[in-house]
Amino acid sequence: SAGRVEDETENGLRVYDPGFQNTAVARSSITYINGDEGILHYRGYPIEELAENSSYLEVAYLLIYGELPTPTQFAHFEHEVMHHTFAHTKLTELMQTFNYDAHPMVSLHHLHPFLPNPSVTISADFTRLLPPQGCFITGIAAMSTFHPEANPALQGADVFTNNPQILNKQIFRLLGKSPTLAAHAYRHRIGRPANSPQNGLSYTENFLYMLDRLSEREYKPNKQLARALDILFILHAGELRLGGRWEENWGSEVGVFQMTDFASCSPNVCSVTNVDHELNCSTAAMRHIGSSRVDPYSAVAGASAALYGPLHGGANEAVLRMLERIGSAENVGSFLGEVKARRTKLFGFGHRIYKNYDPRARIVRKVAYDVFDIVGREPLIEVAIELERAALADEYFVSRKLYPNVDYWSGLIYKAMGFPTDMFPVLFAIPRVSGWLAHWKESLEEKDAKIWRPRQIYVGPPRRSFVPLSHRE
Ligand code: ACO
Repeated sequence: SAGRVEDETENGLRVYDPGFQNTAVARSSITYINGDEGILHYRGYPIEELAENSSYLEVAYLLIYGELPTPTQFAHFEHEVMHHTFAHTKLTELMQTFNYDAHPMVSLHHLHPFLPNPSVTISADFTRLLPPQGCFITGIAAMSTFHPEANPALQGADVFTNNPQILNKQIFRLLGKSPTLAAHAYRHRIGRPANSPQNGLSYTENFLYMLDRLSEREYKPNKQLARALDILFILHAGELRLGGRWEENWGSEVGVFQMTDFASCSPNVCSVTNVDHELNCSTAAMRHIGSSRVDPYSAVAGASAALYGPLHGGANEAVLRMLERIGSAENVGSFLGEVKARRTKLFGFGHRIYKNYDPRARIVRKVAYDVFDIVGREPLIEVAIELERAALADEYFVSRKLYPNVDYWSGLIYKAMGFPTDMFPVLFAIPRVSGWLAHWKESLEEKDAKIWRPRQIYVGPPRRSFVPLSHRE
């Protein structure tokens, strides 16, 4: 069982700890979490103070370099990142080669209530296009082919520790191009050409611009919807105490404003967003892959792939598909029966660290209601409410300390806001890139750095002799 010390006489003692539930595999000074008390610090700074006062790039700098930047350092960092936002034309072309099945006309408006003109249509089957996460992962991985100076196989294993400029260049590129590739993946997903980034916009504005370029037509997202997206990004960072801010500062004001206002009203959009949550599955994957000293593009692609899974960052997408499958509130009982019979999971419930009601989920639940007031009540909300009520009253879930996590409600909001379901994990990935890079850089600097190579407990057959094929029955 987990935690049991196996006595292997030949090979010494080993701890059997499936899923690393109780094994520390790194010393890290990046993120501190206390799940019981709801504490989350980046480099010692409470996330509340960062969310209130800083911006995404400032927090990215803090995570990666260990200290808040001086004005000069920040200006240089921002300049470098923003001058690495263009994706090579060949990279864009590569992403556009992914499968795109033509299908009878689908109203884009159904998928994107931000759009002012419901008559805009597009020829695409949204259920059969390549999921944007795959497009994003491939784009990131392909970056390694454009930057051979970042390949330790060619340049030597200590290329980054010997050359801070080369190290920093890869950080600038990955931070700069991640939103660009994500926006390209989204544009391809909705059957539209890619938008290039534009000079003079902030990091966040650029992302929104590339999603839906203002110059194409007037684009007026609802203010409250924009706020909801903002708070979701912040919550994904692991923010625990933003309920007050939502109530105090934002209330339930409904209005329409230009997309450019989005970033200025909300410096934290995609900002102190989703940046790090210590050794979660994808960050552990980043450190694990990076420990072989592979190039950082391959490692970030691997981390993005880990994030995509339904037990991790793909959970919000899985929640949506689960609710659609349940269909209506009266089917909740039989679905929970399936969960208890272990035929499926209750997605959006449970967390390795939070063994109580994830406080982020409470806030997202409220945001969901606010959003539905504007875009109309998402029919699946009734299913979600009944499912949550029934699970929280069920001894099976209570005894296992299974409560809604942040992803339980966020998928419904993204859906109501018009994002395709399979875009959710990409929204999650963009700001998480800075956390992955912080861990990658920290692991390069470890004095006792080792390749990650867990041990196993062999439980297969003992030695036996080979039987030729002709002698086997
Ligand atoms: N549905 C049904 N049963 C569950 C669930 C669930 N969502 N989560 C845990 N359990 C059960 C397990 O089967 C286990 O039962 P048992 O002791 O009878 O065998 C018990 O609760 C303990 O669960 P573990 O699997 O040991 O918990 P662990 O910490 O390993 O897993 C995880 C955490 C992966 C998040 C899990 O709760 C899960 O799969 N949840 C659903 C997916 C999800 O919402 N993930 C998002 C997490 S947040 C994020 O990554 C951004």
